[in-house]
Amino acid sequence: MAWLILLHQFAALVWVGGLFLMYLAVRPALAPLAPAEALPVWQALLGRFFVWIWLAVLALPLTGYAIVFGVWGGMGAAGWHVHTMQLTGLIMILLFGHVYFSPYRRLRQALAANDPAAAAAQLGKLRPFVLANLILGLITVALGSAGRYL
Ligand code: HEM
Repeated sequence: MAWLILLHQFAALVWVGGLFLMYLAVRPALAPLAPAEALPVWQALLGRFFVWIWLAVLALPLTGYAIVFGVWGGMGAAGWHVHTMQLTGLIMILLFGHVYFSPYRRLRQALAANDPAAAAAQLGKLRPFVLANLILGLITVALGSAGRYL
């Protein structure tokens, strides 16, 4: 149980902390730059960060369900906070999948085709999903840590 919850928490920390940094620090820091300067930085940042999100996307349900089914013996033993965490967690994973395979993929294609205007448009499409997952991530973390005491 200790290892499972530790891995689960590390994965949540990496994902939600990364989203927080991206939205509240990197985005305003790069905003004054011209698209030609900012876009390659975004591509390099997102490319590296998304590898870690993929690991978190695998680790969170794996460790979460290992706790529920392996340690607790099934969903019946889980409180409302875990049921809700499962829902918000799965929505987060779906939103990330959409970002990765739609705006992020198109952003890379536009940069490869030397089309900064199209790349900037895809970055604009990606942004609300980062905010949505940041808000959902904070709610999910609150459920995971404080939920059992409510
Ligand atoms: C997708 C399926 C998921 C399942 C089945 C799941 C399951 C669980 C379970 C069973 C616990 C232990 C709760 C308790 O002891 O009362 C837990 C804790 C937690 N979960 Fe999840 N979880 C999921 C997704 C997520 C996601 C996406 C995040 C964050 C992005 C997250 C963040 C946390 C945190 C921060 C804790 C508290 C860890 C601690 O006690 O130190 N979980 N989760």
